[in-house]
Amino acid sequence: MNNYEIFKKNINKLTNIDLNYYKEKQMIRRITSLMKRNGIDSFDQYYLKLKSDKTLLDQFINHLTINVSEFYRNMSQWRVLEKEILPDLIKSSKNTLNVWSSACSTGEEPYSLIMLLTKFYDLDEIEILATDIDDEALEKAMVGLYNEKALVNLSKEFKLKYFDKVENSYRIRDKIKKHVKFKKLDLLKDPFPKNIDLLICRNVMIYFTDEAKSLLYEKFYNSLRKNGVFFVGSTEQILRPEKYNFKSIKTFFYRKLNNISE
Ligand SMILES: C[S@@+](CC[C@H](N)C(=O)[O-])C[C@H]1O[C@@H](n2cnc3c(N)ncnc32)[C@H](O)[C@@H]1O
Repeated sequence: MNNYEIFKKNINKLTNIDLNYYKEKQMIRRITSLMKRNGIDSFDQYYLKLKSDKTLLDQFINHLTINVSEFYRNMSQWRVLEKEILPDLIKSSKNTLNVWSSACSTGEEPYSLIMLLTKFYDLDEIEILATDIDDEALEKAMVGLYNEKALVNLSKEFKLKYFDKVENSYRIRDKIKKHVKFKKLDLLKDPFPKNIDLLICRNVMIYFTDEAKSLLYEKFYNSLRKNGVFFVGSTEQILRPEKYNFKSIKTFFYRKLNNISE
């Protein structure tokens, strides 16, 4: 077994993160650059340090999981969601939509969703689930403090209505915050919620191997309700959606089919 294989095993034991599902070349590049930054030149030595140094371990998980996000990332897709997906989805649902932001990072995505949903529902009717593997990202999401850069795509109206300026940052107001339920969930290991109307998984599948992706498409399928919609990231279109019983309804949006002939 080479050193990276042993490192992957040890990291799985230490953090419960299975690096086997992440694209190997990309991961090795990211990890070795972080090792260099810390003056460490072997996987064995790095693992020993990670085991005994919580700050180093947090830095490792943070770097590994790549938390970059922003409000209404790839704006044009959010417009499609608002104008062409949500109206039909809402019409076809008896209750308020069951929405899950499944790799929510520091909260920009679920908060974007809540704000968007206020165009269709009273705020009091909405609650969405937001999950991520990274505790630190989830903590930041719950604090909800963002720099100007994260808000570039945000409308003036939403900025005024739902944020407070705190020195050079913007804090999302509690009236939005309290409608998002944050929870830790590893997409590759944990069971998924059921009966989801709108499932968002954006900008995380690109880091996964093809095997992991197939596994996830099946899990996402089972998590969605009949005719539920799956919203993916910009470079994450499903190659053969029908293989997983999904139908492409717009670029980046898929509907759950109930049988192949639909
Ligand atoms: C680049 S961010 C994407 C954030 C947001 N979805 C967006 O598109 O702006 C990727 C997120 O995926 C999370 N992630 C990585 N592996 C994961 C896993 N196995 N299960 C759940 N989340 C994971 C990371 O912690 C990180 O917050």
